[in-house]
Amino acid sequence: MKYFCFTLIFLSICIAHCFGEVKRWPSRFSRAPLLERFSWKQLDWQYPDEITRNEALASGEYQPQNGLPVGIEIWKNKLFVTVPRWKIGIPSTLNYIDLDSNRGGSPKLTPYPNWSQNVAGACGTGITTAYRIYADQCDRLWVLDTGTIGIGNTTVQACPYTLNVFDLTTDKIVRQYRLRPEDINQNTFIANIAVDLGTGGCDDAFVYMSDELGYGLIVYSWANNTSWRVTHSYFMPDPLTGDYNVGGLNFQWGEEGIFGMSLSPIAADGFRTLFFHPLSSNREFAVSTEILRDPELALDSYHAFQVLPERPMGHSTSEVMDENGIQLFNLIDQNAVGCWNSLLPYSPDNLGVIARHDEALIFPADVKIKNGVIWIISDRMPNFLITSLNASDINFRILTVPLADAIAGTVCDNVPRKFAGFNSVW
Ligand SMILES: *[C@@H]1O[C@H](CO)[C@@H](O)[C@H](O)[C@H]1NC(C)=O
Ligand SMILES: *[C@@H]1O[C@H](CO)[C@@H](O)[C@H](O)[C@H]1NC(C)=O
Ligand SMILES: *[C@@H]1O[C@H](CO)[C@@H](O)[C@H](O)[C@H]1NC(C)=O
Ligand SMILES: *[C@@H]1O[C@H](CO)[C@@H](O)[C@H](O)[C@H]1NC(C)=O
Ligand SMILES: *[C@@H]1O[C@H](CO)[C@@H](O)[C@H](O)[C@H]1NC(C)=O
Repeated sequence: MKYFCFTLIFLSICIAHCFGEVKRWPSRFSRAPLLERFSWKQLDWQYPDEITRNEALASGEYQPQNGLPVGIEIWKNKLFVTVPRWKIGIPSTLNYIDLDSNRGGSPKLTPYPNWSQNVAGACGTGITTAYRIYADQCDRLWVLDTGTIGIGNTTVQACPYTLNVFDLTTDKIVRQYRLRPEDINQNTFIANIAVDLGTGGCDDAFVYMSDELGYGLIVYSWANNTSWRVTHSYFMPDPLTGDYNVGGLNFQWGEEGIFGMSLSPIAADGFRTLFFHPLSSNREFAVSTEILRDPELALDSYHAFQVLPERPMGHSTSEVMDENGIQLFNLIDQNAVGCWNSLLPYSPDNLGVIARHDEALIFPADVKIKNGVIWIISDRMPNFLITSLNASDINFRILTVPLADAIAGTVCDNVPRKFAGFNSVW
């Protein structure tokens, strides 16, 4: 009996510690709590050994207080986490966590595909800074290296903007494409991409890169290995919405233009709709990929860009749309994630909130939907940039919730119908 008790006690301690305790954050807006999968006070990396890690700490190559994760992606058992080189001491920008061997806690990041591919300023061989990344259905990982070290007025362009495409099954680079000088301008800052797979299979791929401070959209054609720049006044910020209150801070980001992007399912005409919004804005815009995919059309199609009604929920960073046309968008002023079912018109009545939490969701920086599960990363970015993070507090969280549970009971959970195309219902 005594041994049975010991075994029980040991087992319960083990369940809490060996497998990591799963924290649940109840949300005011949906029945489903957010599951805290991973959380960190500060980021750490998986060095080959403790000696190497200590050397990196001593030399300043690794400075724990300077790491801020901004982007996530999920592919099979890999959870990718990007860390821009905004400050010194970031050992690797493109990283992953093995989901088989990490079930919770604060796992160390492993450079992807390896350390040498993450050397800052090693143009052509190393990735200097990666922000939002995308794994497509053809097992390719799309990573735009901005080539920059620093942020704002400290930015140094160490390498040119370069699109890198990895084959996730071999971890090899299958395509590298430097943006042309004509694709960018002196204000260019690209922190987000959207990958458009068409009806023509894996080779029918285009990438849209949102130039947040240079106010443009750069399109890359995989098949032709060429790029072009699209401009439109809808890429610019609304000067009246540059004031922010996030994480107890008031600050002004009035220059932030086109940032969040999501692609609809393929409509009856064979094209998707690209939804997009400037960061400093309360509006969503839309354009057919038929326009973007054609460099001639993209030059001269002002009226093909649509303005959606105002979103009375504040600023939004990243957004994503699943294969059924459910759009999720991060609401940074509300510590929340919003939703829209694109079968319904885009109107305030049809926008919902699927998760909100004033501690766990301070600055949701990225959101993904993978196999019916929503993945969110929150990172207190304004506190990091404007003041500093409290190293004793949990600052970064990766949370999940099944999409069906999250939208249950919200306005986004309506009659399941097959997606018929954005234009046909709007
Ligand atoms: C750079 O920006 C920071 C923060 O916005 C500001 O405090 C600093 O004075 C700026 N430095 C220069 C050289 O403009
Ligand atoms: C790192 O990964 C890249 C891309 O797969 C490869 O070309 C390179 O040889 C690797 N380097 C090392 C040291 O393994
Ligand atoms: C590739 O370029 C050719 C010639 O400019 C054009 O006709 C074709 O549509 C392009 N294909 C793609 C997929 O962009
Ligand atoms: C794509 O174009 C770039 C130059 O613009 C070139 O360096 C690269 O080799 C090309 N890749 C392929 C697969 O053609
Ligand atoms: C930092 O975080 C810890 C843990 O949450 C908290 O006890 C402490 O008061 C915080 N310090 C400051 C200065 O906010």
